[in-house]
Amino acid sequence: MRVVVTGGSGFIGSHLVETLVKRGNQVRVFDRWLSPEIRDLAARGTVGFCQGDVRDPGQVRAALHGAGLVYHLGSVLGTAETIERYDPL
Ligand SMILES: NC(=O)c1ccc[n+]([C@@H]2O[C@H](COP(=O)([O-])OP(=O)(O)OC[C@H]3O[C@@H](n4cnc5c(N)ncnc54)[C@H](O)[C@@H]3O)[C@@H](O)[C@H]2O)c1
Repeated sequence: MRVVVTGGSGFIGSHLVETLVKRGNQVRVFDRWLSPEIRDLAARGTVGFCQGDVRDPGQVRAALHGAGLVYHLGSVLGTAETIERYDPL
């Protein structure tokens, strides 16, 4: 199955990607950051990588094209950074 993992460069996502690949899935990572681990897998053609932001509907639509399953793990961890960066108050 073709599976998309948002946040696939992250801590949980990269482990999930590894497992999905081992189980024979076609995996595409959608993340705003390309980790060294995912870069290696993408360079070997083991996974696809789509750089983008989950807050952009057009980028999400493109990344999800043809996917049978999506794991959504792309997010900013921790409330302090989120409040500091995004709270309008
Ligand atoms: N790590 C934990 O112990 C834990 C526990 C419970 C729940 N979670 C949840 O699991 C999810 C993943 O956690 P993690 O530990 O792998 O975090 P992480 O920070 O290691 O990975 C998050 C990934 O999301 C990407 N990302 C962030 N904002 C993005 C955006 N706007 N568009 C595209 N990509 C974006 C980052 O680049 C990063 O690669 C989060 O929702 C987190 O709240 C984590």
